[in-house]
Amino acid sequence: MRKQIVAGNWKMNNGLSQTQSLITDLRNQTKTSDAEVMISPSFTNLWSAFDTLRKDDIEVIAQNMHFAEDGAYTGEVSAGMLKSIGIKTVILGHSERREYFNETDELLAKKVDAALAKGMRVIFCFGEELADRKAGNEEAVVGSQIKNALFHLGAADFQNIVLAYEPVWAIGTGETASPEQAQDMHAFIRKTLADTYGNDVADAVSILYGGSVKPANAEEIFSKPDVDGGLIGGASLKAEDFFAIVNAF
Ligand code: PGA
Repeated sequence: MRKQIVAGNWKMNNGLSQTQSLITDLRNQTKTSDAEVMISPSFTNLWSAFDTLRKDDIEVIAQNMHFAEDGAYTGEVSAGMLKSIGIKTVILGHSERREYFNETDELLAKKVDAALAKGMRVIFCFGEELADRKAGNEEAVVGSQIKNALFHLGAADFQNIVLAYEPVWAIGTGETASPEQAQDMHAFIRKTLADTYGNDVADAVSILYGGSVKPANAEEIFSKPDVDGGLIGGASLKAEDFFAIVNAF
């Protein structure tokens, strides 16, 4: 059985007191699904969030990291630093990192390797832009994003990989991929995995959908057979909305 996961991508939101009050609100919610729940405060609030939630059923994860172990990379945070405060999962390859910080498939492959080398789990994001979809190139784009950044890995490495398909045209736009569009792409992704790594690996990897998931559309999207959860941006900043999505399974 694949893991069902709902992860909140907080992005560059919430200072210390807002982080603490959102966490208080999250702890007051009731979880009725079996989904794993994760939140990703900014680096400055990771430790306090982790410390507050260490006995709760909510994992605190990071939004990014550098590929190097340590050294002269001013302003960066390494996998070892994240691990040193108890963080075990990191989001890599978000389209905002690709677009605004020039993260390439090649760079992301190095980040993935660095995270896995530290025994961390990676939520690896990818997705096509609107122009790609309009041109009918969405599968070619997604296929190459996955292959370029991940297909040097061994089969066993995929135990620590979660995939997050996030069509760029659906992120923060209010426009969601239809449940059928999500299912079609997730099935393509799973087949792409199966073609290289076999069905056992492909069937075990959780594939999340991200892009304007809300309480109103989560249930239908999550009902699709190859959709194993969601990476949630805007709606993860309100505890009630986030848990409505968590409980949509
Ligand atoms: P959104 O963001 O839910 O606000 O569209 C999703 C994401 O960027 O992960």
